[in-house]
Amino acid sequence: MTREQRTQVAIIGAGPAGLILARLLALEGIHSIVIERRDRAYVEHRLRAGVLEQTTVDLLRAAGVGGRMDREGLVHEGLYLQFDGVRHRIDLRELTGGRAITVYGQHEVVKDLIAARLAAGDEIVFEASDVRLCDVDADLPAIRFKVDGKERTVHCDFVAGCDGFHGVCRPAIPPGALHTYERTYPFAWLGILAQTPPSLDELIYAHHERGFALHSMRSPQLTRLYVQCDPDDSLDAWPDARVWEELHLRLSTRDGWQLREGPVVEKSITQMRSFVVEPMQYGRLFLAGDAAHVVPPTGAKGLNLAAADVKVLAEALVDWYRSGRTALLDAYSATCLRRVWRVEHFSWWMTTMLHRAPGDDAFDHRLQLAQLRYVTGSRAASTSLAENYVGLEHV
Ligand code: FAD
Ligand code: PHB
Repeated sequence: MTREQRTQVAIIGAGPAGLILARLLALEGIHSIVIERRDRAYVEHRLRAGVLEQTTVDLLRAAGVGGRMDREGLVHEGLYLQFDGVRHRIDLRELTGGRAITVYGQHEVVKDLIAARLAAGDEIVFEASDVRLCDVDADLPAIRFKVDGKERTVHCDFVAGCDGFHGVCRPAIPPGALHTYERTYPFAWLGILAQTPPSLDELIYAHHERGFALHSMRSPQLTRLYVQCDPDDSLDAWPDARVWEELHLRLSTRDGWQLREGPVVEKSITQMRSFVVEPMQYGRLFLAGDAAHVVPPTGAKGLNLAAADVKVLAEALVDWYRSGRTALLDAYSATCLRRVWRVEHFSWWMTTMLHRAPGDDAFDHRLQLAQLRYVTGSRAASTSLAENYVGLEHV
């Protein structure tokens, strides 16, 4: 027999978008059910983003889930752009009137949100399979799915499609109702997590003729590193020794700085894509986060953009439940897309400035170097990078 449930907002996906939305709604007394395809351990250990904008930090704190982030997160007041073997520091705090970023793993944010939700007695359905959306263009949509082989149905006022790029929510919208804008890049990132202290206390974005490299971190004991690779490369093509060799070459400077090596505890390849659908709404289905848009990771923006979407969505839903007004819900897509396109541009711009594309010639290379010199040499240009990197204020 099918188990039937009623909620106000059905949230598909327990990534950052879905979990932050659930938290913001719960704080306003709005009931939701989060429906997630994977098990709890999987979502709590999936290694992804690491950089939280000031605005995301402020949002998590205001939502009462910033305690561990404030204790364990690493506040960075600057970052380095490296080219021609020389590092140039961008002083984020000084250029943005006191703002900074916090390095705190996405899976830690997810753990904190899951713990807070379960402690409050609210539901997350893990390991839901065969998730289907019904009647999203009617007043009472339903979500059908299976758990432990048993059919369940959740009836709701609204559906939040927070199920990432490969989810089922965006494809549930008739294709003619959406416009898709997309760019794929002819390169990918190979990322490793190494058990060794970071070799510098801030991030290094390195332009190199062999390709881009990034030095980041997760904690005082864990270093996160990326090298640009071919999108068709398999992990077999990248034994640890080759990864370290490329990292040493691309991150090396002429001042004797040394990259620390350590045991590699994770290794994966990430494709690079820019992607936006418009509008981010169909009937009573609202898309948020990677379900609606993707950015290449060079600007460290995906998670932050997901958080910005659900802040807008939560405010619009709260207004509807309080007053019955639809104005904020009607404006949801347009409001989000203004920020989305700003961030799409910033992420594309950082990516284009720092990577080496297969067909690039000496002219392209010199243009990149000219841009990097300008960004690091001009206060106006560094301020532009800094204010985008720490994140523009939420609307
Ligand atoms: P997701 O995190 O993808 O969550 C979607 C959830 O939905 C998942 O739990 C998934 O299992 C679930 N789901 C999928 N299909 C279904 C279904 N059919 N039914 C139910 N549930 C489903 N962003 C930053 O801001 N800063 C960074 O430094 C950064 N670095 C990155 C580095 C890498 C290597 C990668 C890959 C990404 C990085 N990002 C970064 C991007 C960031 O990780 C994503 O933008 C972010 O995860 C988006 O959150 P989301 O909740 O929208 O989607
Ligand atoms: C990370 O630490 O994983 C990271 C940092 C900065 C980026 C992308 C990823 O731009």
